[in-house]
Amino acid sequence: MSKKVFVVTGGSSGIGLAVIRKLIEEPSYHVISFSRSQEKIERALLELGEIPQNLKFYEGDVCNENDCHRFSDFAKKNHNFINGLVNAAGVLTQGGIENINFIQWKYNLDVNLNGPYLFTQNLLSMLKAAKGASIVNVSSIASLRPGRSVAYSVSKAGLDMLTEYLAGELAQYKIRVNSVNPGFIRTNIHIDNQIVSTNEEYEAMAAEIARRNPLGRAGEANEVADLIMFLLNDKSSWITGSIFKIDGGTLIENDFLPIQKKS
Ligand SMILES: NC(=O)c1ccc[n+]([C@@H]2O[C@H](COP(=O)([O-])OP(=O)(O)OC[C@H]3O[C@@H](n4cnc5c(N)ncnc54)[C@H](OP(=O)(O)O)[C@@H]3O)[C@@H](O)[C@H]2O)c1
Repeated sequence: MSKKVFVVTGGSSGIGLAVIRKLIEEPSYHVISFSRSQEKIERALLELGEIPQNLKFYEGDVCNENDCHRFSDFAKKNHNFINGLVNAAGVLTQGGIENINFIQWKYNLDVNLNGPYLFTQNLLSMLKAAKGASIVNVSSIASLRPGRSVAYSVSKAGLDMLTEYLAGELAQYKIRVNSVNPGFIRTNIHIDNQIVSTNEEYEAMAAEIARRNPLGRAGEANEVADLIMFLLNDKSSWITGSIFKIDGGTLIENDFLPIQKKS
């Protein structure tokens, strides 16, 4: 029986790494992570403990055409098809039009929107060859309301439309495409992208977000990975073009917060 092949961009950290952890539990799966820095790959390897036989970390940038071509050649040499692609690589620059310069604007759009487009396009023939593949784009609730970063929100809103467009276009090849849109999740993204610089600042930010969240806490990468696994799986075989909020209720419009505990 042929083995299934899964590719996860941004697999060296946070949500991508949480998906990788779940995928490698199945020894018959081939799992490939695609991300830029060796430093984060080493951090991930430390977290994983030992290098699993069925996992490969490949170095590359999702918005670099040469890197995407190179990866596509590598994938074609080693595999006949790709069953699942998770576009989880992402960056975040905080601020509005008065704070974010054009270079930062383009960087967010490049990694979060052009990257998934370019990377998916390069792997398309291998996704078609699976005769039943699933693409999951990791978007954000910032795509559904303005949030705190103009560039990030616009990039993720574009990504949601890319999901819907590709779901329609690629259905003829039995490729499903969905978006997962998390609220605040505890990962390295806020520290690695200099949104906060100390653990104290991070915890203060997480506490403030938890205070405004109906379930009263931040989310975990593991919880987002569970939803992504469902969308990669045949159990979601009739779901395509859908945008899934996973935010502990953050976007519910309400006037009952902060939550009053009954005595
Ligand atoms: N954490 C949250 O609160 C949250 C909320 C909503 C949505 N999200 C989304 O979830 C996704 C994952 O975020 P996370 O929180 O897990 O972030 P993270 O821990 O910072 O991980 C981001 C991953 O993306 C990779 N990456 C970044 N730019 C890349 C590029 N140009 N090419 C290839 N890989 C690249 C990083 O590795 P390198 O830097 O080494 O390349 C890293 O592996 C992102 O799309 C993010 O927007 C996160």
